[in-house]
Amino acid sequence: MLIKTKPSWQLTDADVTPQHLYMNRRKIMAAGGALATTAFTTACSAQDSGVSSGEPAARTADGSLSFSETDYRVSDGALTPEDAVTGYNNFYEFGTGKDDPARYAHAMTTDPWSIEVTGHAGRTGIFALEDVVDFGALEERIYRLRCVEAWSMVIPWIGVPLGDVLSAFEPTSDARYVAFETYLNRDEMRGTRFPVLDWPYREGLRIDEAMNPLAFLAVGLYGNVLPNQNGAPIRLVVPWKYGFKSIKSINKISFVSEEPPTSWKQSAPREYGFYSNVNPNRSHPRWSQSSERIIGAGPFARRDTEMFNGYGDAVADLYAGMDLDSEY
Ligand code: MTE
Repeated sequence: MLIKTKPSWQLTDADVTPQHLYMNRRKIMAAGGALATTAFTTACSAQDSGVSSGEPAARTADGSLSFSETDYRVSDGALTPEDAVTGYNNFYEFGTGKDDPARYAHAMTTDPWSIEVTGHAGRTGIFALEDVVDFGALEERIYRLRCVEAWSMVIPWIGVPLGDVLSAFEPTSDARYVAFETYLNRDEMRGTRFPVLDWPYREGLRIDEAMNPLAFLAVGLYGNVLPNQNGAPIRLVVPWKYGFKSIKSINKISFVSEEPPTSWKQSAPREYGFYSNVNPNRSHPRWSQSSERIIGAGPFARRDTEMFNGYGDAVADLYAGMDLDSEY
């Protein structure tokens, strides 16, 4: 007998959110609702441009965002406290210490922000952030972020599905991959004065991975616009892959036909692959991936790592026929 159960990541709010945060978030949403009624007064409408446009809500004075809730929720684990999400970061452009991004990323200019779109697509050029993301259609998704360094967080992101954004650029059949680049400004990003990686930071996805409904472009977290250290004003979130695939502060998107070079694979190909799906059975050459530290839950809090970070029922089909040990 086939019993249809809800995928584990489609639980209700109360399953994942501690009560006080749940109540607090309602307040944020109420405030956001007021914002939404004043939105959509710009000249460029979704019909005109093909890419949705709205009032640049990301630039609101108090930083709050209007968003709708969705069924995308992790199945277990409380939200990571906000100060851990915004205080324990990897953003090597600002230094390799976990607190460097929170200390130094304020120097990055995020407004105005534009994204260059190139390659195999009907619509290419340089687009303002507000013409890439429909700030009137933001949704919240609570995903687990699993870093390749064997720690994880549960983060309430706000943003839009990546596939919706990419489709608006009308990729052609030659667009087999999509490549992303991070903003690079050596004056503002003190870490880029050191050759830790070959800057700018680059990442990529196969186009069918990018079009998977779980792939997300975040412009906010915890009800507010993204802090710079988390990748303002727009970053990728690919929850079934190690966190380094979730590239921050994106200012270039390219539709390409060949697998694009990606920063960590270029830097250490034996350690980091293009796919980098979370896989508890494949150890990193220098450490096990079978379990992970839960950030913000005390020094000894750990959990077993899940295949595809627990999102297998939504993404495993993407890799049918592939040997994930050799094609990692
Ligand atoms: N993007 C850029 N541009 N530079 C980086 O150093 N680090 C990655 C990813 N995106 C990184 C990046 C890694 S290793 C992780 S785990 C996540 O960002 C961390 O995201 P967070 O700091 O918002 O938790």
